[in-house]
Amino acid sequence: FTAAMTALALVTSASAAMAQCDEGEMVVKFAHVTNADKHPKGIAASLFAERVNTEMNGKVCVEVYPNSTLYDDDQVLEAMLQGDVQMAAPSLSKFEAFTKVFNIFDLPFMFKNMAAVDAFQNSDTGQAMKGSMERRGLKGLEFWHSGMKQFSAKKPLLMPEDAKGLKFRVQPSDVLVAQMQALGASPQPMAFSEVYGALQTGVVDGQENTWSNSYGQKYYEVQDSITETNHGVLDYLVVTSTDWWESLDPAVAEQLATIMHEVSVERNAAVSDVEMQARQSILDAGGKINELTPEQREAWVTAMKPVWAQFVDGIGQENIDAAQAINA
Ligand code: LMR
Repeated sequence: FTAAMTALALVTSASAAMAQCDEGEMVVKFAHVTNADKHPKGIAASLFAERVNTEMNGKVCVEVYPNSTLYDDDQVLEAMLQGDVQMAAPSLSKFEAFTKVFNIFDLPFMFKNMAAVDAFQNSDTGQAMKGSMERRGLKGLEFWHSGMKQFSAKKPLLMPEDAKGLKFRVQPSDVLVAQMQALGASPQPMAFSEVYGALQTGVVDGQENTWSNSYGQKYYEVQDSITETNHGVLDYLVVTSTDWWESLDPAVAEQLATIMHEVSVERNAAVSDVEMQARQSILDAGGKINELTPEQREAWVTAMKPVWAQFVDGIGQENIDAAQAINA
């Protein structure tokens, strides 16, 4: 009952967020690519809009555009620099044209769990990364969590050799391309909105993503099974344009930053509940999950970890050391 009420409240707030803007209010468009109510990012964006639209009513109005309805992630950052959209939260894999520091989050087996990711992002090293794109016009506001990634394919993947020769959709990241090449697979960078169709028609054979994305996009319908590898992390950076942010009345910017921070702390703390719910929903919908033995998982580590060496220069050895110290 409570879960249903929460879901209903979120759906209501998501649509209310689109309907509420009054004349004279500054409209802030927030574009993202996931669903609005069953996904860590969607829920956080809806909550941010709901709070701003209540607490800053008359001054600011946030409109959330979920499900790639306004922009795909490969267009949204350019649109932001043009002033056509004010906020977005692309995954950390999608900033490569602006900075290489976030490559650290794509390195396979860099973080053992989301607690380690959280601690790293909140360390001085992690916080400094938010400012890495300011000279390119993008300001990082907060990290948002999603979760660990799992592989799926048209056949069961139990050992790394099972991925050999298969085509995998990856996010547009050189690290993820190298990761699939290390497995002898063929990486195909592709927009999120196209993945289901590509799996269905056989343009690609497999993919990697979180439980919430595999559930939200129904990949289990068009894949043999998902293998619980927890081999990487999918997280987000809420970004805005530096020019736009600096043009705001300082009191407005401060209130937006405060609400954004509080929403981030609240939703990041709840993220594993959302991910585990999505995992269960996949099983309930008839999806199949393969669990690995420790020996099988070790074989994936051995196959993929050599990729780190290719990206040390762009990321910085000191950043990798800082992450590993936290991960210990
Ligand atoms: C993807 O492209 O797979 C993800 O970055 C989508 C998302 O925003 O979770």
